Amino acid sequence: MDSPRPHERPAVFDRILTPLHRWIWSDTDRRVQKLLRFGETETDGGRDILRAAEVTSDPLLRRLYLEHAIDEFRHGVLFRHRAAVLLKASASRFNNGFQGNWIAPGGHGLDDLQVDGESDSDMLAFLHLSEKAAASRFTVYRDVMQHDPPTRAVFEEILHDETFHMNYTLTQLARVEPQQHKRHLWRARLSRLWKAYLRLATGLAGILGSILLTIQYFVLLPPFAWLAKRAARREHFGWTAVSPGRNDSLNRQY
Ligand SMILES: [Fe+2]
Ligand SMILES: [Fe+2]
Repeated sequence: MDSPRPHERPAVFDRILTPLHRWIWSDTDRRVQKLLRFGETETDGGRDILRAAEVTSDPLLRRLYLEHAIDEFRHGVLFRHRAAVLLKASASRFNNGFQGNWIAPGGHGLDDLQVDGESDSDMLAFLHLSEKAAASRFTVYRDVMQHDPPTRAVFEEILHDETFHMNYTLTQLARVEPQQHKRHLWRARLSRLWKAYLRLATGLAGILGSILLTIQYFVLLPPFAWLAKRAARREHFGWTAVSPGRNDSLNRQY
């Protein structure tokens, strides 16, 4: 593993999950799907930041947001191109296996961004934490990608931009909110924590649901299948004559 530069030191949680990330990225199909998903997240994030550039009344922020949005669109293209190359090279079919998206979603967390109605300071706090999370995860992804140098180079290139995004958002937050920028950061942190909890709970609910349905399938269904088979065995074969009383009236259906 490379020794990271100080601003690229991954968060403790990402470092703990390094073996899981290494396993996830070791499979080509999973890698393609992750890259496509990242490409989507980056492009969506770019679109939201473009919207942030439209709604802000701060000229400097507008210019920075525009540059930021262009970077995110470029990241989307880089991820998609790399996924396309891997897809062409891979002869096997897609498998929709475990990707751990609910543990570590598509790098950024920019998909949670809601631009309209947010103040500049809230937007900057949210962007700063998202970019910090992206820089941390992309550092881990780059480091576990020794077996795939071109994908590693993509992460290396994008990591450079994410670090810049992480730094400029913090500098601008301190500029627009010199007194209370830490409070905004904490509020954004709590909001991210709540969303992470919801993501984790949804993932766990999905796993528990699958386990319960599997248990139901193997435990509850067999007695019903046995009863249905037994009832079928008792049925007479072929046509069954009805009692004459039921043939009397033609005024009703039954
Ligand atoms: Fe990005
Ligand atoms: Fe970014």
